[in-house]
Amino acid sequence: MELICKCGDDCIKSTNIISESFKSHFKPCDNCKEYKFKKYSPLKIQIELKQLDANFGKCNCGKRHLDVVMAHILKIMIVEGIKTEESTLRDVGVPLITPAYPLDEVPYLSENSLVILSKEMDKKCAEKIINEVPEVKGVLKGDLKNTVGIKDSNSTPYTYDLLGGCDLRCDIINTPWGIIFIYKYQGQMHIELPKPLSPKIIHLKKVLDKYDNPKVLDCTCGPGTLGIAALLAGANRVVFNDVWYPASYTTAMNLEINDFPTEYLGTKKGLIATGDNFEVYCMDIKDLIKVLDDSFDICLIDVFPGVDSTSFIEAVESLCLEVVII
Ligand SMILES: C[S@@+](CC[C@H](N)C(=O)[O-])C[C@H]1O[C@@H](n2cnc3c(N)ncnc32)[C@H](O)[C@@H]1O
Ligand SMILES: [Zn+2]
Ligand SMILES: [Zn+2]
Repeated sequence: MELICKCGDDCIKSTNIISESFKSHFKPCDNCKEYKFKKYSPLKIQIELKQLDANFGKCNCGKRHLDVVMAHILKIMIVEGIKTEESTLRDVGVPLITPAYPLDEVPYLSENSLVILSKEMDKKCAEKIINEVPEVKGVLKGDLKNTVGIKDSNSTPYTYDLLGGCDLRCDIINTPWGIIFIYKYQGQMHIELPKPLSPKIIHLKKVLDKYDNPKVLDCTCGPGTLGIAALLAGANRVVFNDVWYPASYTTAMNLEINDFPTEYLGTKKGLIATGDNFEVYCMDIKDLIKVLDDSFDICLIDVFPGVDSTSFIEAVESLCLEVVII
């Protein structure tokens, strides 16, 4: 599968390059300054920005403190009339760094390392942010409270609007079998921030430990994290499935990115991609049983919070030895 970002740029980096650099990616150099911006009180942005030098807070190493970048964005939003002088840094929106992994310190950002999700935004302001704030690679309009994608078969899909730049970002997931790189177009995929060791991965390990090279059905695969982890752990075969096409496509992309050569079939329904010992489907879980001719050791069901998993279990229980609700 060819790995070219929808935007045409080289947003998908080689995993070797990220592996070598991600731990130092957001660390300040010895010359980077510390900033203490007030996040919850009205920014009074002119006063705060006076702390900054002619380089607008950018160190010679090319990085800027996250708060300085957010203040820069807020300043543009105020000029564009989207925010007022009374707005605080918290009002800007959600900063989604890329590549993301759990950090102990506030990150110092380099170019194209931030996607902004903001409830109030318009196209002109988004484009101005992309042009003037080098750290920002994409600007999305949407509400963090709404889950992106399809919650279950009966719900209407929700997506964030990409108003400027590119929203492809990468989450770095630590697993007992190695690091996994999960890329996603964040406007079409739900936000799931990496934790030092994800409870889902811990749960998966407990299940996989009971089997030798199991066959796994990842029924609601999202961007593919659990099934890819299972392949790394030595699963004999993994079938991925999601009802939301952007999720199934993202899984296919992430398989290729994580060195599982993948053939994308160009379809948007049913079987969409294949590899040596895996397939990727885009189907409602209730219909999947009609097309699968295999049985599995484990069926993984991971639904969004608040979604009842009963119908998911009923749909697949005859296919496997064990249904696992993650
Ligand atoms: C919590 S997410 C899965 C996250 C994924 N396991 C991971 O670790 O990244 C839930 C997924 O269930 C999918 N889903 C919802 N209803 C479905 C259905 N009826 N059939 C198949 N997938 C469904 C959603 O599209 C979403 O991607
Ligand atoms: Zn891109
Ligand atoms: Zn520096």
